[in-house]
Amino acid sequence: MSKQRIIETNEGIQGELTIEIFDRFARIMRDKGWNNVENFYKAGITKGNVLEIGPGPGYIGLEWLKQSTNSKLTGCEISCDMIKMAEKNAKEYGFEARTNYIEGNAMQMPLQDETFDAAFSNGSLHEWEDPIRVFNEIYRVLKPGGLYCITDMRRDVNPVIKWSIYLSTKPKEIRPGFLTSLNASYTVTEIRNLLNKSELKNASASKEFFGLCISGKK
Ligand SMILES: C[S@@+](CC[C@H](N)C(=O)[O-])C[C@H]1O[C@@H](n2cnc3c(N)ncnc32)[C@H](O)[C@@H]1O
Repeated sequence: MSKQRIIETNEGIQGELTIEIFDRFARIMRDKGWNNVENFYKAGITKGNVLEIGPGPGYIGLEWLKQSTNSKLTGCEISCDMIKMAEKNAKEYGFEARTNYIEGNAMQMPLQDETFDAAFSNGSLHEWEDPIRVFNEIYRVLKPGGLYCITDMRRDVNPVIKWSIYLSTKPKEIRPGFLTSLNASYTVTEIRNLLNKSELKNASASKEFFGLCISGKK
């Protein structure tokens, strides 16, 4: 049995200092190639008009775009400070014309029905106040046949892996936040129960080495 979930705030990451520290952390992860982009490809998300939920500083989607020429990415992000960082990073990649970051809560996205060919998200699920509402929103904004893939950490990760990641996480200032996020994350069983109550009830949810991966087709 894994420990009970301890929820995080639902305000996303705010404030320039935290944003700057998170950006440094996400950049290090990007440089190590730890980005889950491979999972999005495995789920069949290879091109098109794509939505990213909770892009943070943007590296995940920007790395995906690097391999998907001709594709466009819209990021729906709750924190306006993160949006500024993502826009700065998109410029560094030379992808301003292929990216559009909008401020919005994933539980009620300011986006039209049936707009996107696919949707993905990494490391944001554990922060969503009501994941069922977000799953339903993903269903709403996807075109028929649209693909989705959501990756995140998993609370019941092996403790040896948990602590070795904790100790190797840089910059050091991010470590307390890593534990808070891990404690707020779900197990695959919990996620399957939530998916079953949503429009994404046909999704598959799998246990990964460190995290979990949800994928499917509308
Ligand atoms: C831990 S960060 C992960 C950022 C990025 N996806 C990555 O993997 O590096 C989670 C991001 O999700 C955003 N977020 C949290 N709740 C959200 C919500 N309800 N709607 C939109 N974005 C949200 C946060 O502001 C933050 O930028």
